[in-house]
Amino acid sequence: MAGGTSFALNADTGLPAGWPAPDPDALALSRRLAALLRARIGEGGPLPFDAWMESVLYEPGLGYYSGGQEKFGAAGDFVTAPLVSPLFAWSLAGQCAEVLAAVHGDTILELGPGDGSMAADLLAELERQEALPRRYWLLERSASLRQRQRERLQAVVPHLLARVDWLEHLPERPMRGVILANEVLDALPVARFRRHRGGVAELTVTVGEDGFEWQERPARPQVERAVAAIESDLGRTLPDGYLSEVCLQLPAFMASLRDSLATGALLVVDYGYPRREYYRADRDEGTLVCHYRHRAHWDPLPAPGLQDVSAFVDFTAAALGAQNAGLEVLGYTSQAHFLMGAGITELLEARRGEDVMEQVRLAQQAKTLLLPGAMGERFRVLAVGAGNISAPTGFSLYNQLANL
Ligand SMILES: C[S@@+](CC[C@H](N)C(=O)[O-])C[C@H]1O[C@@H](n2cnc3c(N)ncnc32)[C@H](O)[C@@H]1O
Repeated sequence: MAGGTSFALNADTGLPAGWPAPDPDALALSRRLAALLRARIGEGGPLPFDAWMESVLYEPGLGYYSGGQEKFGAAGDFVTAPLVSPLFAWSLAGQCAEVLAAVHGDTILELGPGDGSMAADLLAELERQEALPRRYWLLERSASLRQRQRERLQAVVPHLLARVDWLEHLPERPMRGVILANEVLDALPVARFRRHRGGVAELTVTVGEDGFEWQERPARPQVERAVAAIESDLGRTLPDGYLSEVCLQLPAFMASLRDSLATGALLVVDYGYPRREYYRADRDEGTLVCHYRHRAHWDPLPAPGLQDVSAFVDFTAAALGAQNAGLEVLGYTSQAHFLMGAGITELLEARRGEDVMEQVRLAQQAKTLLLPGAMGERFRVLAVGAGNISAPTGFSLYNQLANL
């Protein structure tokens, strides 16, 4: 693959024509990030896509998640399940309570907690169920997001703030309890590769006459090995010209979580597929998803630092990474089955008698979380455990472990 962005660009902003202009400060940060990327490419040559993605998302002070601009909700770029409805966090609360009781746990750790909505709603529901953990940790590297989360918790559960703490890294001493990761794995940088009959090429980003552009180069050995492992697992060679992604850091990420969990469970919710579906022959243009002000597309090159860049999750790889690190894979199912198993209907029912408009609103939100055409099927839930623990009841309706 060669060539630049697929969009026609606005001459003033450098953003795709028709996209709303960002505020001048955000645009200035994006230009600084673009200059830094150009300098890096000038010095070291084209950037493998995972290095590009790492930078546009996490470059200190400049990356999408490191900068201060609005990302979540109506005024931002995308909406996640905790922002669709508190029913999501309320349902997860019951699952957390189950695991905490089973392992005599005292801690919930939430990775990448977004705007803090999930933490606030989850704590409120756990309080209602008289199942509060001693500690609720939020692992968040961005200072501006930490502030945002604090404000949200202060607004919803001010009396529970004493239990809440922020971490910049995974805890050094293994915890007993639950680790939650909603839409975190899709934000881990991925390498992009193309299968050719004679070998594997890697997609890198370089600087062309009109801006950043793609360049295919021979794949790094670690990408070749990863593709060989995928093909060996699938029992077939990917078709000639096939383009896709692989998350090289996923095994190490799962292993690092293993080191942090003495006993308990990790619940991962994200968009993704089991490996057989991920690398289906007709899914030959990869799985990248980028978001700018609720425009979803697949082109990560324009507007560095201003748009979210993500990739679907290979859930088989996540499960294997966990298993190889010594965790037990407990459950895998769709978000719809998981939430139904976790009692979302009963939670809705329990709000009967409250304000009618609020009930209608919650019922509509439940549809977005559950319907196959909305989030119900595209999002999947994976549970892995440390210690002697069984699958939470969210997996009781339809545990699809055999599909991984
Ligand atoms: C799409 S946002 C999801 C936010 C939130 N969980 C939600 O559902 O609204 C992805 C988040 O994952 C965080 N993230 C990425 N890599 C991470 C890592 N290695 N550890 C913890 N968080 C990470 C990002 O910083 C970002 O805040």
